[in-house]
Amino acid sequence: MPISDPTAKWWSEDTVAIVTGANKGIGYALVKRFAKLGLTVVLTARDRSKGLDAMDSLKVLGLDHNVYFCQLDISDRASISSFVSWFRARFELFDILVNNAAVCFNTMGQNSIDHADTVINTNYYGSKQFTEAMLPLFRRSAFITRILNISSRLGTLDKLKNTEMKTILGNIERLSEDQIEMVLHVFLQDVAEDRWKKVGWPEIWTDYSVSKLALNAYSQVLARKYKDMVSVNCFCPGFTQTSMTNGKGNHSADDAAEMAAAITLLPPHHLTTGKFYTASTTSGLISKL
Ligand SMILES: NC(=O)c1ccc[n+]([C@@H]2O[C@H](COP(=O)([O-])OP(=O)(O)OC[C@H]3O[C@@H](n4cnc5c(N)ncnc54)[C@H](OP(=O)(O)O)[C@@H]3O)[C@@H](O)[C@H]2O)c1
Repeated sequence: MPISDPTAKWWSEDTVAIVTGANKGIGYALVKRFAKLGLTVVLTARDRSKGLDAMDSLKVLGLDHNVYFCQLDISDRASISSFVSWFRARFELFDILVNNAAVCFNTMGQNSIDHADTVINTNYYGSKQFTEAMLPLFRRSAFITRILNISSRLGTLDKLKNTEMKTILGNIERLSEDQIEMVLHVFLQDVAEDRWKKVGWPEIWTDYSVSKLALNAYSQVLARKYKDMVSVNCFCPGFTQTSMTNGKGNHSADDAAEMAAAITLLPPHHLTTGKFYTASTTSGLISKL
């Protein structure tokens, strides 16, 4: 895949990228990467002071020149609305959205669903509602405008054994947002009525996996709806050393961000949509679908 063609730089400092959940981990590393590559970046964080600390770290690295900060909690409609007002006042339009923010309350080997509502509300509904709020502000320039949803292979369809749900989500040509949300409703009901272990939901980090399953499905719906207007892809960074994994992983957040940036910045003539990219340390980036 021609993702790292050094002659293919098509962006400039007029290209504006927004990254959610960027005070640490892969989101912060991605802001650094975009800043190094010369884009204008909006670093967002739900906690203002953590966001400002991240800005200070960028300053120390000499990378704060075209980086702006605004508080954004993707699970809070009021915060999204303030972000939109802030953004409109400064930039008017933008080109790239990376939906990176997510939560996971499990550690390795654990599979609690105590926070299933928060996980689904943040990882799926939060990313969706922020995307919807920002869609009118995309520059809508063919081959340029892009969304990258940072997802996980824990949320690919092969992890779902429930045949009814799998058939619904697998029918990507006809899939709708209502159907995705019906699947989430069934999941949360199975959790509430304590039958979630028996009915074929993903077996590892179940609530997180279902949230990413829904995010992947939503990406397909968006890719179809905005075909030839906005490119929408997903990326699983692989097992990465961040606080989500208690610092364990096969590679650093900077490595993951380098791969995420390569996909986000695909040259216009190689731009894809509706793809799910995974990182593999041995064979590079692989796209499915
Ligand atoms: N690390 C891995 O191995 C791995 C593997 C596959 C996929 N991923 C995905 O990669 C992405 C980045 O994860 P990471 O590993 O970098 O984890 P991380 O270090 O825990 O970072 C997650 C970021 O999301 C933010 N966040 C959480 N809820 C938010 C909300 N409601 N609004 C705005 N921001 C919110 C967090 O803010 P706070 O600091 O305030 O909590 C933090 O900045 C996630 O989508 C994750 O699912 C990670």
